[in-house]
Amino acid sequence: MKDVNQKKTLYASVSPDDPAAGRETLVQASLILRAGGTVVFPTETVYGLGANALDPEAAARIYAAKGRPADNPLIVHIAEPYEADALCVCPPMYARLARAFMPGPLTVIMPAKPCVPKTVTAGLSTVAVRCPAHPVAHALLLEAGVPVAAPSANLSGSPSPTCFRHVKEDMDGRVDMIIDGGECDFGVESTIVKIEDDGSLLLLRPGAVTLEDLKSFGADVTVAPAVLGALKEGETVLSPGMKYRHYAPKAPLYLLDGTLEKRRKFLAEQKARIAYLAYAEEAEQFESLSLALYSLGEEKDTKGQAKCLFRLLRDVDKENYDVIYAPLPPMDGLGMALYNRMIRAAAHQIIKL
Ligand code: TXA
Ligand code: MG
Repeated sequence: MKDVNQKKTLYASVSPDDPAAGRETLVQASLILRAGGTVVFPTETVYGLGANALDPEAAARIYAAKGRPADNPLIVHIAEPYEADALCVCPPMYARLARAFMPGPLTVIMPAKPCVPKTVTAGLSTVAVRCPAHPVAHALLLEAGVPVAAPSANLSGSPSPTCFRHVKEDMDGRVDMIIDGGECDFGVESTIVKIEDDGSLLLLRPGAVTLEDLKSFGADVTVAPAVLGALKEGETVLSPGMKYRHYAPKAPLYLLDGTLEKRRKFLAEQKARIAYLAYAEEAEQFESLSLALYSLGEEKDTKGQAKCLFRLLRDVDKENYDVIYAPLPPMDGLGMALYNRMIRAAAHQIIKL
């Protein structure tokens, strides 16, 4: 295998509406995976950068392609929920979660079995598993016949890719193959929960399976402190990914906590070259201000906002603004996923208006 950053990347597309028509591509991608190579594929959340999860060297190639710190473990993707049995010690709560939420945007952390390489778990005693619902991801996993370790397919430090263009920007020449499957449905990464010894859940990353969904399913759920707040000096990190400032635009990002009127007044007083991620309701009213507006969609439409957030952050980053502002998202429903991603992109800089 050639040096990781000078590969000839193969490109192909497979339609989520008809993955069977892309069988030749999926067979080719499976052969690459089984030979220890890397394949980027679409999922319903974000694109994943996959390699054979049972091959330690293949998993190591993922870290090299992303420039990912070696202490940040990978999620293992499986075609069917029962395949988790081969990888981890599954408590009864896993079967209940699988029946309710799989396939879908939920990742579950459980004690790892010895067959899972250290390069996948980053040396932890647990492993994260996820069964994606995306038709192309599902077809690829079935064809490959091996579990596939896959973090988001961005370079470490840039936003997760939600469409082919983003993947190509970050991964051309760094992976063996990229499968274009169109735009991802959710646009934010999966919800991550850890099953504790007593069967309760610890929410480590909010996503499209919301806290409310988990509660109404009957789970006893605790939200890990780092999800909504900054890690304090010396605080133990429950999920290694929490300590990295993942989605970091070049210009500083500040989140505005206040009413539309207060946000308008604040922005009108600023002198710098500003980009503002605006709700559709604001865009019209803020047009006369001297700032570049990027629309998040309607204020109530958190699903639409989640879908476009990472694209907006990439687009804003291409222009050299002095500063970026955005409204502080709500903390309920899918808002919690937006809040979690945005406070980290903003390095927890919230301006109380
Ligand atoms: O939606 C998703 O989950 C996407 C798609 C491709 O499936 N994947 C994804 O992977 O977001 P990644 O690597 O970007 O984020 C995985 C997060 C990291 O923050 C990592 O620290 C955490 O999961 N993680 C993985 N294994 C863990 C473990 N055993 N214990 C605690 N956290 C773990
Ligand atoms: Mg990631």
